[in-house]
Amino acid sequence: LKPKIFITRKIPTQIINQLEETCDVSIWDDEYSPVPQDVLEEQIIDADGLLCLLTETINKELLEKATKLKVISNMAVGYNNIDIATASKKGIIITNTPDVLTETTADLTFALLMATARRIPEASAYLRDGKWSTWSPMLLTGQDIYQSTIGIIGLGRIGEALAKRAKGFNMNILYHNRNRKPEVEVALGIQYTSIEELLRNADFVCIMTPYTTETKNMIRKEHFRMMKNSAIIINTARGGIINEHDLYQALVDKEIWAAGLDVFEQEPLPLNHPLLTLPNVVTLPHIGSASITTRVKMAEVAATNLHQAINGETPKNMVNKKA
Ligand code: GLV
Ligand code: GLV
Repeated sequence: LKPKIFITRKIPTQIINQLEETCDVSIWDDEYSPVPQDVLEEQIIDADGLLCLLTETINKELLEKATKLKVISNMAVGYNNIDIATASKKGIIITNTPDVLTETTADLTFALLMATARRIPEASAYLRDGKWSTWSPMLLTGQDIYQSTIGIIGLGRIGEALAKRAKGFNMNILYHNRNRKPEVEVALGIQYTSIEELLRNADFVCIMTPYTTETKNMIRKEHFRMMKNSAIIINTARGGIINEHDLYQALVDKEIWAAGLDVFEQEPLPLNHPLLTLPNVVTLPHIGSASITTRVKMAEVAATNLHQAINGETPKNMVNKKA
């Protein structure tokens, strides 16, 4: 009897075919709508493996229904959508897809930084809306990027890749991280600071931490007050690390200059969200890792992790080693 696996979304066909050679595969075969919770509940009961996305909430209630589940392979680097404690208690292996998306996500972060600083979406809409009547000295003027100061909160793999890009723009680079990284400081010429010092000095504040109980609501009212009035905040990590209500107020009160956001407390971002009323907020639909090559690689890594765990091996990207 082949092990039963459930895949919660349409992923590249060649990867599904590979899994079918050794597994009995069921799939929520829709590309643009998440699996309904009742379907997921029904499938998880007798599944040996689950390959899921960050759109699935794998909570205690759901995990309690699983009778045979050995592995949850999340096709993402972040795994805050999974109740790790409950899964670990049940001996279920959790895996993620780091490394393959590092450079792609750093590219998008820098692109969003530039788009926000130079008001690219706003300028593009200006032209298309027929508002361009003449070249004008202060029309659509933004903030400089080269030689400015970037503050990176969270110097993991993607944070470091972002620092390398910033270096190419001759930026002064500050970072804050749980632990100092002296080798990286020397290699990239970057400087460790407290959160407060980083917020006071940075022209660009970039959130690059995972979402945890420690980083939840980490940037709120008092932090925006510390920032420069010309500062731009960028978040490509997870919504909820920045308090969105306080961010909105800080933008309205002109405590900071602009925000570039790829992630939100609620996704999809509701169209009546107050942040969407502000012209100086650039919003993207969570596309940090969205290059064709990288998304295929992430699906491959997720499939490999799943396969290894089903076969009783320890997957390379296991995140709950104590399970
Ligand atoms: C995307 O947000 C990921 O965690 O991979
Ligand atoms: C702008 O296009 C310039 O030539 O300065």
